[in-house]
Amino acid sequence: MTQDLNQMREHMLTAIAAASGLDALEACRVEALGKQGTITALLKTLGKMTPDERLVQGPIIQGLREAVANGIAQRKATLERAALDARLASETLDMTLPADAAPAGTIHPVSQVMDELAEIFADLGFAVATGPEIETDWHNFSALNIPETHPARAMHDTFYIQQGIDAKAAGTADEKTTFSLLRTHTSPVQIRTMLSQKPPIRIIAPGRTYRSDSDATHTPMFHQVEGLVIDKGITLGHLKWTLETFVKAFFERDDIVLRMRPSYFPFTEPSVEIDVGYTLVKGKRVVGGAEPDGWLEILGSGMVHRKVIEACGLDPDEWQGFAFGCGIDRLAMLKYGMDDLRPFFDGDIRWLKHYGFSSLDVPTLSAGVGA
Ligand code: PHE
Repeated sequence: MTQDLNQMREHMLTAIAAASGLDALEACRVEALGKQGTITALLKTLGKMTPDERLVQGPIIQGLREAVANGIAQRKATLERAALDARLASETLDMTLPADAAPAGTIHPVSQVMDELAEIFADLGFAVATGPEIETDWHNFSALNIPETHPARAMHDTFYIQQGIDAKAAGTADEKTTFSLLRTHTSPVQIRTMLSQKPPIRIIAPGRTYRSDSDATHTPMFHQVEGLVIDKGITLGHLKWTLETFVKAFFERDDIVLRMRPSYFPFTEPSVEIDVGYTLVKGKRVVGGAEPDGWLEILGSGMVHRKVIEACGLDPDEWQGFAFGCGIDRLAMLKYGMDDLRPFFDGDIRWLKHYGFSSLDVPTLSAGVGA
């Protein structure tokens, strides 16, 4: 009898271990522990035994039942885990993928406008210059005739960086070499260019700029394009012609009217703010029109201040020039019709699909810079 039971136990545990799925395992369970099951039948025999027989057989049969029940439970857990793993593997979802078709990027309107600017100004003989986004006090302010005590420093809502703050506290700061802030405008590229190149100079410098400011038309990071011309005999007339030519090419129409308003920047003298005329089309402001309905301010400019030319080691009696600075994001909004700046930098694929450009849409003057 014990011999038989041992064989039965071996046989059952082998079948359980070999069960390839939950259905096969259930079949094993029914066969052993079901109503008509082998072990169930054995348990029933206990009732007919004498107390002495039961004392011996009881623990053996109960032990068999327990071993088989445990074996089934273990195998069940293993099979269930495998089933879950298989399901998780087959149902993997990449939540970062767009819901439709294959991922396809677009050229951001800011990049597109930067390419348009480079194309327009290259045609006028301007090269593209760059400078660091983390700047020194001297390049961002002092060299541009904005000394430490100048109120314009406060107006710029500057982000200062810890490295500069620490150096100042330790007394090791040098305004010319300690990188201490995020540039508040692209004008420090004027300084870097005049220091590294010999005039005549004709450059534009598009790039990121930073001010602690945030609403529908201001973001802490934004884009500017700087323009700088240094040569002999440069006058305000050259500035006016250059800007008019640029604005006409950019908005792709000839009926552009510019208005020059006297203004103030520490680094230009005289300083002029430039407005562009707009006409109302179905209640929307559209840049252009020979008889404007109103004016939109688009850029700041002026003749480079003598002190700035001197700070760069040039003789202001020999070299003169003009400079301008213009918000690129604002140019994009005026040309392509967005009325909120903040979504520019949200990275929302729907916005990018709507306002973005095809990578094949390379701006050229012959094909039209806006395409
Ligand atoms: N840097 C100025 C600004 O950010 C713009 C400017 C540039 C004005 C060059 C004059 C000349 O507001």
